[in-house]
Amino acid sequence: MTDDFIIIAHRGFSGQYPENTLLAFRKALNAGATWLELDVQLSADGELVVIHDESLERTTDGSGPVGEQTLAQLRALDAGQGEKIPLLSEVLDLAAGRATVNIELKGAGTARPVARLLQQRLKRPQASPDLILASSLYKRELIDIAVELPEVRIAPVAEVPGAELWRLADRLGAWSVHLEKSCITEELIAEVRQSGRKLLAYTVNDIETLQRFYRWGLDGVFSDFPQQFFRTKGLSFHGR
Ligand code: G3P
Ligand code: MG
Repeated sequence: MTDDFIIIAHRGFSGQYPENTLLAFRKALNAGATWLELDVQLSADGELVVIHDESLERTTDGSGPVGEQTLAQLRALDAGQGEKIPLLSEVLDLAAGRATVNIELKGAGTARPVARLLQQRLKRPQASPDLILASSLYKRELIDIAVELPEVRIAPVAEVPGAELWRLADRLGAWSVHLEKSCITEELIAEVRQSGRKLLAYTVNDIETLQRFYRWGLDGVFSDFPQQFFRTKGLSFHGR
């Protein structure tokens, strides 16, 4: 497998550590990750927090909607193994100089505050818009981030592809498109490549699927167990 194949630690090293926590992101970096994916939501007082679900039950010892709790209330919760729900800025600090970060705009209204945060951070000497990829399932968030922060790469996320997705990708000038793995075919990979975009599949946790996608020419995958794939970098699989 060549070094241009992208392996993204999905919610950090979430297969083994509590997802979307600093522990999971640190473990992914220590295992060799050069790409991290995270999900961002807004607290009741407008802070950008890193958590996947709209409600707290699945990943913390709290309950109810994330957006109805202040940052102080959210920070008092256990997000697994004693970890706290991180701020987006904390994960960006951890990744700085080490990894590209895919910020998935999960919550409604996250695009503008994320853009404001990134505008500030991009003034730092080592910062580069090339180290950020903003993505979302939601058209509104994608359009807002594209308008506010045109220098940052953008990707629509979808469970299934369709005409509307490709129109949106064109309109946004998307760098990549992120699709659920069951809809990935060799033909689709070739079509997306012709459009000049990258195609990334989520969530791939087994080596057989990784090898098949790689052989077909896919550009990369999101994985909860990224460490098992880093070992294969530099090796070549049959047919590519
Ligand atoms: O962005 C890829 C993937 O993270 C989208 O699905 O539900 O894991 O955020 P989900
Ligand atoms: Mg995600």
